[in-house]
Amino acid sequence: MNSKANDAGAEILATPAEGDAGGLRIPRHVAIIMDGNGRWAQGRGLTRTEGHRRGMESVRTAVETSRELGVSYLTLFSFSSENWARPPLEIQFLFGLLRLFIQRDLADLHRNDVRVRVIGNRVRLAADIRALLDQAETLTCHNRGLTLVIAFNYGARDEIARAVRAIAEDVAVGRVAPDAVDEAMIAAHLDTASMPDPDLVIRTSGEMRLSNFLLWQAAYAELVFMPLFWPDFDRAAYLEAVKEYSNRARRFGGIAARRST
Ligand code: IPE
Ligand code: IPE
Ligand code: MG
Repeated sequence: MNSKANDAGAEILATPAEGDAGGLRIPRHVAIIMDGNGRWAQGRGLTRTEGHRRGMESVRTAVETSRELGVSYLTLFSFSSENWARPPLEIQFLFGLLRLFIQRDLADLHRNDVRVRVIGNRVRLAADIRALLDQAETLTCHNRGLTLVIAFNYGARDEIARAVRAIAEDVAVGRVAPDAVDEAMIAAHLDTASMPDPDLVIRTSGEMRLSNFLLWQAAYAELVFMPLFWPDFDRAAYLEAVKEYSNRARRFGGIAARRST
């Protein structure tokens, strides 16, 4: 962690959270593109997989900090529909990490009132992974604390295509009139149905792109790009991103700045 980020953290905690005009605005939904594991490892002469392993620690920190701040939804981009282009061994390792995360952390998440939801295309996933994801969602479905959304085998274009296909089927059989297809209906057919749109999208590793993440939902999200690699993302970095968000003026096409949350 760098000292600048630490200072930002101390300053943030000194300000009253939410409600006070001069205080910190906490985003309701934070979505993170966890990028840079490979480069973090390569810079240390380690294998890319070691970077992924270390990235898991940052996941735990992000969950804890979200709970501490009172964030309601945390979405983590864990494996994209384009990540199949990676070497088979790396893909296997990433799948192994997901298994490990659910096996090791699910009980703790449940104890802490965290609800787990999964977005992405499950069709191509191995049966045991699908079962684990189902188990995590079912066990935690009544929890009312943080909702942890795992975006796994997720791609926004694939998600939108699946939604459009489902609506087209309803139209084809006459259940839905073409005129009735509106933004709300499309949103209700996305994997994120019933979740609020992300307020803040953070991407680590210095890349400034969305890489097919939440293209529909992030229409009015505030984007924060951070130079650090994902394994270096700690509590102070999270607070720094929230502070940046807190200072943004959101207008949603209007002229008067609206509160961030
Ligand atoms: C992010 O780190 C993790 C996943 C995409 C699964 P990367 O593996 O993309 O690391 P870089 O971007 O190559 O450094
Ligand atoms: C985005 O990172 C996907 C995840 C973080 C899971 P990538 O590393 O796959 O994105 P690109 O290829 O650099 O755009
Ligand atoms: Mg990357």
